[in-house]
Amino acid sequence: MPNIAIILASARPGCAGAAVAHWVLTQAEKRTDATFDLIDLAEVDLPQIDEAMPPALGRYTDPHTQQWADIIADFDGYVIVTPEYNHSFPGVLKNALDRVYAEWNNKAVGLVSYGVDGGVRAVEALRLVLKRPSARRRVGTGHLEHAHRLRRLVHPRRTSRFRPDHHA
Ligand SMILES: Cc1cc2nc3c(=O)[nH]c(=O)nc-3n(C[C@H](O)[C@H](O)[C@H](O)COP(=O)(O)O)c2cc1C
Repeated sequence: MPNIAIILASARPGCAGAAVAHWVLTQAEKRTDATFDLIDLAEVDLPQIDEAMPPALGRYTDPHTQQWADIIADFDGYVIVTPEYNHSFPGVLKNALDRVYAEWNNKAVGLVSYGVDGGVRAVEALRLVLKRPSARRRVGTGHLEHAHRLRRLVHPRRTSRFRPDHHA
């Protein structure tokens, strides 16, 4: 059975993303054809990338990198739950994406965004990153349109009173 990680990309204390990610997990767990786990990047607490060799070479030396690689390798796909920071996605997510390479390959990814404008520019930026030329056939982005529909399911404007909207 496919094992899917729901990755919370905000690491701020008290972030709105925690409620969104838990809601996504609750919705996902209604399915019986996959298993789901929540990965909170604040808990993972990865240091900034400090590997001497590019991760694409697969020669990880830092224990943090190997631990993160083992976590990511365990999953068949990912749903990234991201806010928009300065017209993009948070740096903590970029670091998590940059830190390992092969473990992301041949996996499907969906995106759920939220924020003042629904986090649409975070999704735009992520689509570029996830479609990097060297991995075009490796990191699936076929679920992105579905992710856009999911984005409309949430009302981000009052994140302290987060609630899902009806399906558009
Ligand atoms: C550092 C930072 C930068 C932000 N930049 C933007 C932005 O460029 N555009 C936008 O619509 N919202 C922006 N916001 C608002 C966030 O998207 C919104 O507050 C979101 O709910 C934050 O999610 P979080 O609480 O899970 O971190 C920014 C918030 C932060 C903390």
